[in-house]
Amino acid sequence: MFFLVIFLLFPISSQDSSSEEFEILLEERRKIPDRNWFCGAGWKSRWFAYGWMKACFAGQYGFNHQCAIHDDCYDQQMGQEKCDDQFCEGNALIAKNDGRGFCKPYVDGSCLAVKQYGAPAYASAATHQNNYVPYLMHRNEFGAIYNEIFTGCKLQNATFSSCGYNYEECLIYKYEKCGENLKTCILDTKNYRTSEPSCDLVVEKVAEQIKF
Ligand SMILES: *[C@@H]1O[C@H](CO)[C@@H](O)[C@H](O)[C@H]1NC(C)=O
Repeated sequence: MFFLVIFLLFPISSQDSSSEEFEILLEERRKIPDRNWFCGAGWKSRWFAYGWMKACFAGQYGFNHQCAIHDDCYDQQMGQEKCDDQFCEGNALIAKNDGRGFCKPYVDGSCLAVKQYGAPAYASAATHQNNYVPYLMHRNEFGAIYNEIFTGCKLQNATFSSCGYNYEECLIYKYEKCGENLKTCILDTKNYRTSEPSCDLVVEKVAEQIKF
């Protein structure tokens, strides 16, 4: 009788806690690695942004992408207010799709941070660009086509790197609509760059070759 009780209780309770732990481990493992993380360069309080992703893990790819756009926006000197507003709106949209509401502190905090503390970074971007070395897509066969983008597009290394990285993750973890999202991601970049005809051309060309 005693053993039966133990036998019945143990698997149930251990399964519960270990599946929870497993989820956490999985999320830790899937967390965007530091080298591909764009949020927070000193003044942007990197630890805050990165740390918070534990709580609103589902949004990490979207938030990271907004940071990439924001970095490139500063580098192109498109106007700090414009860059910051885009950043805040983009993040708010992602948070809206996270029903649990865990991302709101990140969204509010990072928006406030760029507006209050972004000025020095914006000013220094005029002379010292981030010089972000493109992250080349390499974990699937489409990479060979995709990486041509970096020959025609010189203004948005971070944004295009993020589009490519998110696509690879999407394929690996079998998230939904990978091709569709990649297409939207790269076509959207036009809204976030100053004129660059060579980039328009190569982006159109690559977008046509994305398979769904
Ligand atoms: C983008 O990457 C290229 C190398 O492909 C580099 O020459 C250029 O300086 C980078 N631009 C920016 C703004 O980071």
